[in-house]
Amino acid sequence: MSSPAVLAEGLVKSYGEVRALAGINLEVAEGSLLGVLGPNGAGKTTAVRILSTLLLPDAGHASVAGHDVVKDPDAVRASIGLTGQYAAVDENLTGRENLELVGRLLHIGRKEARIRADELLAAFGLTDAGGRPARTYSGGMRRRLDLAASLVGRPSVLFLDEPTTGLDPASRIALWEVVEQLRRDGTTILLTTQYLEEADRLADRIAVIDGGRVIAEGTSTELKDRLGEDVVDLRVADAARTAEAVEILRDLAATTPRAENAAGRISLPVHHGAGILAEVVRRIDSAGIEVAELSLHRPSLDDVFLSLTGRDTTVVAAAQPAARRRFGRRSANPETAA
Ligand SMILES: Nc1ncnc2c1ncn2[C@@H]1O[C@H](COP(=O)(O)OP(=O)(O)O)[C@@H](O)[C@H]1O
Ligand SMILES: [Mg+2]
Repeated sequence: MSSPAVLAEGLVKSYGEVRALAGINLEVAEGSLLGVLGPNGAGKTTAVRILSTLLLPDAGHASVAGHDVVKDPDAVRASIGLTGQYAAVDENLTGRENLELVGRLLHIGRKEARIRADELLAAFGLTDAGGRPARTYSGGMRRRLDLAASLVGRPSVLFLDEPTTGLDPASRIALWEVVEQLRRDGTTILLTTQYLEEADRLADRIAVIDGGRVIAEGTSTELKDRLGEDVVDLRVADAARTAEAVEILRDLAATTPRAENAAGRISLPVHHGAGILAEVVRRIDSAGIEVAELSLHRPSLDDVFLSLTGRDTTVVAAAQPAARRRFGRRSANPETAA
């Protein structure tokens, strides 16, 4: 078996007192897409910056395309493309000029740079917009241009750091399609995201990170099987009967149910949610417990985190209001789950 295109072993990085990476291990097989899933502050950007030679690790090793990121950064840089969380596009240049500029910086020659720019504009649906200054582009177009710019040098390994954060749903889907095409063309991709749905759709394997550590790794199916496929959320009218309701429902849960006794809330990861919902209602009803709220939803990143760490991602993301909106559903008390 060939060695992985990206390999990180025990990467540690602190910024002063803040330990951003606490010994992270990542592996991306050649031609595959690894989704690195984690909330704000988990260490995603720090990991990407080390792997793309922009930052030195305090400890650990990493190699990209067979080159050590510390000992041979030039060889790593020649093999990679990097798209940051914030688009690095010159606003005043046209889309085409931006791409040609990158080509010239890579010394691929004026004519070749022009050809490559046209190819990429076409591939990213930007041919018509290619002659307009980038400042006139929508957020989604800008991200696509940024991604195109990272591909001018035909990198074998691509790092995409939260490529769709802040994009509207239509732009997000357009970007997903581009990433899928790159993956089909054989590019090795490490993509960071805060969205379970994004990792689910794009990734061959997913590494869930939190607090600078990988807390779970596997295919999307493997991770979901750990969690259950759906989550039934329930609120009982009389909060004093929460624990009783949990006992009645416990054997329906795919993993340990969670409860917030004071609020009367119960969260039940289940397989085949639609089929189980009726059974939940029947059992609760025959115990004479009144249900105030009942809903069924797909697992969110919140649920993954609750299941893996026993705490809500809002704890991690509390300092960032935007992240709170994305993750924040409620806090849960895992104590009653044992
Ligand atoms: N330049 C920096 N100086 C100090 N702390 C930083 C710096 N960059 C990141 N951090 C901290 O390191 C941790 C990981 O950050 P980061 O790698 O940016 O996470 P993510 O990309 O997953 O949001 C966070 O606690 C963050 O606040
Ligand atoms: Mg980041």
